[in-house]
Parts: sequence; C-alpha cells; structure tokens
Amino acid sequence: MDNLIDQIDKTKLPRHIAIIMDGNGRWAQEQGEDRLFGHFHGVESVRDIVEGCAEIGVAYLTLYAFSTENWDRPEYEVVGLMELLVSTIRKEADTLRKNNIRLHVIGDMSMLPAYAQQELNEALDITSGNTGLNLIMALSYSGRWELLNAVKSIANEVKNDRLQVEAINQDTLQKYLCTSAFPDPELMIRTSGEYRISNFLLYQLAYAELYFTNVRWPEFRKKNLYEALIDYQGRERRFGKTSNQLKSAP
Ligand code: IPE
Ligand code: IPE
Ligand code: MG
Repeated sequence: MDNLIDQIDKTKLPRHIAIIMDGNGRWAQEQGEDRLFGHFHGVESVRDIVEGCAEIGVAYLTLYAFSTENWDRPEYEVVGLMELLVSTIRKEADTLRKNNIRLHVIGDMSMLPAYAQQELNEALDITSGNTGLNLIMALSYSGRWELLNAVKSIANEVKNDRLQVEAINQDTLQKYLCTSAFPDPELMIRTSGEYRISNFLLYQLAYAELYFTNVRWPEFRKKNLYEALIDYQGRERRFGKTSNQLKSAP
C-alpha cells in the first residue's frame, strides 16, 4: 500500500472527489445477510475514505449517501438507513471536529425525519469553523431536484425584478445550485460495477473524469482510492481542445 501511495503525484490531486457509494445491498446478500448489514459495514468504508482524503490533502469529498429515488425503497430499509445515519453522525461528529473536517449537506433536508435534521444541524454547527477537508454528504439529493430548484429560484428573481433575463449566465446558474460554494468534482468514482450516474451532480460532473470499479462499497478502502487516483492522474483532460494544444500551452 505504501507503494501505491508513493505513485500518486501530490501536486496533481483532484481538489474535489465525488463518490457514488454503491453495492451495499448486494454485498450483504451475497453472504446471506440482510441488506441493512451491508449499509452498516458501508460506514467502515466511509470512515476509511474520509481519513484517506484528509491525509492525502483532498479539499472536497462528496459522498452520495441517499438519493431522492431511494425514498421509494421498502420502508424498513429507509428507516434502517435513517437510523444508521443518525447514529453514525452522533458517534462521529466529535471526531470530525477534532480532525478539522467540516461537514456540509446537500439535498432536500425537509424530507428527512425531524430527529435526523436535528442531529445533522448539530454536526454542521460544531464543525462549521473547521478548515481542513470539506465532507459533503448528499442526502435526499438528486441532480434533477437541484436543477429544478435552481430554475424556480432564478424565475422568482426575474419575476421580482431582481434579475434581468439577459444577465443570466453560467455563473448565475452555478450560484443557485446546492454546491455553489464548492468547485466541480474532477473525479467521480462509482463502486459495485454499475456504469451510470443515477441522478448525481448532473450539472457539476460535466467534465469530471469517471472511474468505475467492481469493488462493492463495504470493501472499498484507501488502497482502492489510491488506485482511482493513479488512474485519474494517467488521463489527459482536454476540455475540448486537442492533445497538441495542451502540450504547447505555456
Ligand atoms: C448503496 O448501496 C447505498 C444506498 C443506495 C443507500 P445499495 O443499497 O444501492 O446496494 P445495491 O446496489 O442494492 O447492492
Ligand atoms: C445511487 O445508488 C444512490 C446512492 C448510492 C446513494 P442506487 O443503488 O440507488 O442507484 P441505482 O438505482 O442502481 O441507479
Ligand atoms: Mg445500488
């Protein structure tokens, strides 16, 4: 593992990594366990990856923990996930504070049960002065929900004469997204062998490098993160230009 981490160029790290933490249910069922067992073990991976990102010096880490569509899962699973979320935040908030990690949440918080909102607000509060890794939890989040909200807010500004239609540009739109305070992710990782975006950061991933691995989320560890980073660093990010243009750039 030391070997892997040494292969990473610390001067060319992505500032922002986004992860779709997928495969908990299958991982559990493959060993004859209940899906919730998988979610429970997924927390271990969250701990390891948050630590790994903080150690290596990544500035922003967004974790897709619960999508708008996940509300349609069986009630026992939704309730189990909410309880796991609350107990994990309660246990970890102090560790986040001590490790200079600042927690953020994106998503429709009003959908969460009151006890979960309260626990999250406390954790947001006690970590708000931290200046190290920004840990962004996407909860009850989806890209389409976010874009719809942004469009409604912008339309309201126009209606109330606070904004001219002609003045709307990409910066305006960006300002109304839940991620307005964060740079776009340069690297998006999805575990468990699924090759889709599942309504995650639809706008922000426009130029992200996508990395897919078959590893199920409960088995994803720092070593897997390092592999993703090495793969990312081997890519040429062209942003529409030609390879030659990039090489001759000053
Ligand atoms: C990801 O694992 C966690 C959440 C979506 C909450 P899944 O629960 O989607 O696991 P699979 O994809 O069914 O294996
Ligand atoms: C995406 O995973 C959401 C999270 C990881 C929180 P899903 O497992 O819900 O996505 P689909 O349904 O397979 O696309
Ligand atoms: Mg899944």
